Amino acid sequence: MERPIPYGKQFLTEEDIKSVVEVLNSDYLTQGPKIEEFENAFSKYVNAEYGVAVNNGTAALHIALKALGAEPNQYVLVPPITFAASANCIEYNNAIPLFTEVDEHGLMDLNYVEDLVKRYGTKIRGAIPVQYAGKALNLKNLREILSTIGGWILEDACHAPGGSFVKPNVTFHCGDGQFSDASIFSFHPVKHIATGEGGMVTTPHSKVEQKLRTLRTHGITKDHELFQNPLDLANGESQQSNYPSWYMEMQELGYNYRLTDFQAALGISQLTKAKENLEKRRDIARYYMKELQDLPIELPFDNFKSHEINHHALHLFVIKTEKRRALYDFLREHKIFAQIHYFPIHLMPYYRKKYGYKPGDFSSAENFYSKCLSIPLFPSLTIQEMDRVINKIKDFFRHG
Ligand SMILES: Cc1ncc(COP(=O)(O)O)c(C=O)c1O
Repeated sequence: MERPIPYGKQFLTEEDIKSVVEVLNSDYLTQGPKIEEFENAFSKYVNAEYGVAVNNGTAALHIALKALGAEPNQYVLVPPITFAASANCIEYNNAIPLFTEVDEHGLMDLNYVEDLVKRYGTKIRGAIPVQYAGKALNLKNLREILSTIGGWILEDACHAPGGSFVKPNVTFHCGDGQFSDASIFSFHPVKHIATGEGGMVTTPHSKVEQKLRTLRTHGITKDHELFQNPLDLANGESQQSNYPSWYMEMQELGYNYRLTDFQAALGISQLTKAKENLEKRRDIARYYMKELQDLPIELPFDNFKSHEINHHALHLFVIKTEKRRALYDFLREHKIFAQIHYFPIHLMPYYRKKYGYKPGDFSSAENFYSKCLSIPLFPSLTIQEMDRVINKIKDFFRHG
């Protein structure tokens, strides 16, 4: 019996499991020392100044957008080729998603963004570019376009830890904050680093970091310097000269978006292998590129020696074909579970009903969707499994 091959999955080692068990035997299951350790280790990995761990990538988007700020009825730019959460966080904050077209790689189309900025001006508060599949968008160019309206950038880097943008005049790591005000990551099992559920916001701004820490825990602060209530109210009695040590204040409406310490321990352990696993993903991509190059499909790189592969985070290996549905079904029949990333968000019933979007509104995104197929890519994929995927795709185009 052939083993089913999913499009992505976690890669856990005995060390990972040991690190979780250690925390389960410790005094802190949550709100303990592993959170800060994970935040520091992750920030170091992506070259960021600050990191705030949360319980998933969606929560990261929610509070990051809240920290950067958008008023009701203001616009936030987002591409429709992404997971629903990238747009939903705008709805959570009562702002309005303004969808953009995408380029041939599925990334936010900057020419389209320029037109929107000309049209809507300062009604646009910021943008959520998505580093789709692990390829970095040129955030410096986006920054330049948005600087005319003072707009912020919230980078959705869920697909791109370890990825970078390298061109002669600009180099950045995804999440490093050189050209973004905050970046978010997910630690869902199909992602590069798995903690079950989990997420992180990185930011170059200390004010944003502080705000995120408060929003993550109900809007509560324990910092005496920031207290707003007078001393006698805090003490419940007069004639006290300092705040009691139990005292804390809820100063705004926040959430419980905390990560547990055993998840953080798993994240720390996973990070020790992140570079190695990213190289495995890149090797798989090179192998696919070499073996699939003569088929009538569009591949994500020019060739298997492409310099691009060295910087791409390779969360997904997305091929494009006019025969997408038939190929998907054929692979499925042979227990190869390719996946589609993504159905365009503007055509989801929620967004169609709320904003009246219809097919044809974002033709590049819809065209991208009609052809894209993510074939299996994860660090533990064996050469035999890769060959199975490749041979089935070849069979399909030869005889299918
Ligand atoms: C691009 C993108 N943004 C946001 C998310 C949300 O992350 P999570 O599933 O951890 O909430 C995901 C995860 O699937 C994603 O792929």
